[in-house]
Amino acid sequence: MNIIEMKSIKKDYPLGETVVHALRGIDLDVEEGGFISIIGPSGSGKTTLLNIIGCIDIPSAGSVKIGGEEITSLDDRRLTNIRLFKVGFIFQTFNLIPVLNLLENVEFPLLLMKEGGLTKGEIRKRAQKCIEEVGLGSFMDHRPAELSGGQRQRVAIARALVTKPQIVLADEPTANLDSETGATILSLMKHLNETEKTTFVFSTHDSDVLKYASQVIKIRDGHIIDIDGPGAAKKMKKKAGPAKRGTR
Ligand SMILES: Nc1ncnc2c1ncn2[C@@H]1O[C@H](COP(=O)(O)OP(=O)(O)OP(=O)(O)O)[C@@H](O)[C@H]1O
Ligand SMILES: [Mg+2]
Repeated sequence: MNIIEMKSIKKDYPLGETVVHALRGIDLDVEEGGFISIIGPSGSGKTTLLNIIGCIDIPSAGSVKIGGEEITSLDDRRLTNIRLFKVGFIFQTFNLIPVLNLLENVEFPLLLMKEGGLTKGEIRKRAQKCIEEVGLGSFMDHRPAELSGGQRQRVAIARALVTKPQIVLADEPTANLDSETGATILSLMKHLNETEKTTFVFSTHDSDVLKYASQVIKIRDGHIIDIDGPGAAKKMKKKAGPAKRGTR
């Protein structure tokens, strides 16, 4: 099943007298449970694409379905609900709340989910479990400033997963980390993708992701120029025609 379906997505930003065409017709289907990487040069539209999937921004034209639900016609209240219940975000700069300790940071999205019906005790338990899953069980009462960059990004991952979203979106989650820490963060995301069956869509400049991703979407000037992965392999086979007979 496709958890995300985008058809002919365009996004224009007015800029003074002109218009920036950030996305110029994106067609993209993402299968549930995928680990999808979006790569492309600066300004190619990666953040814009993620923001549209996450209902942070709305497209200028086209259709977006999240879990089968068309989101382009929803009102603000229902978009807020999708952001809270269906999607988790991980940002390049972590975006943790400095005055809250690690446990409180991870509890925060659950406290916003008033309709979630969890008691305070259940919220605490769920947040503690997520923090343990990212390997920070002994840092619960630390503030973000007392953690390393890699540890902060682990907290952000725990915070994104605590609401049990169907999709986690991550905009350059390793950009502020050294390559070794970045690789650890990607392995952790991949592990959670496999164990929790959460779909991940993340942008990156880091070519190391190729070995983790189930699909690599290459984007340039607001267009998808290539898709590597199982989908692309099928496409190549079709093009190659009967030449592969020998594999039978
Ligand atoms: N709010 C905005 N107003 C005007 N133009 C914008 C706005 N946001 C993005 N753009 C433009 O849209 C295009 C795509 O931007 P986007 O941030 O999606 O690129 P990106 O691939 O994420 O780049 P980077 O790798 O630098 O983060 C760029 O030309 C950018 O200048
Ligand atoms: Mg960006």
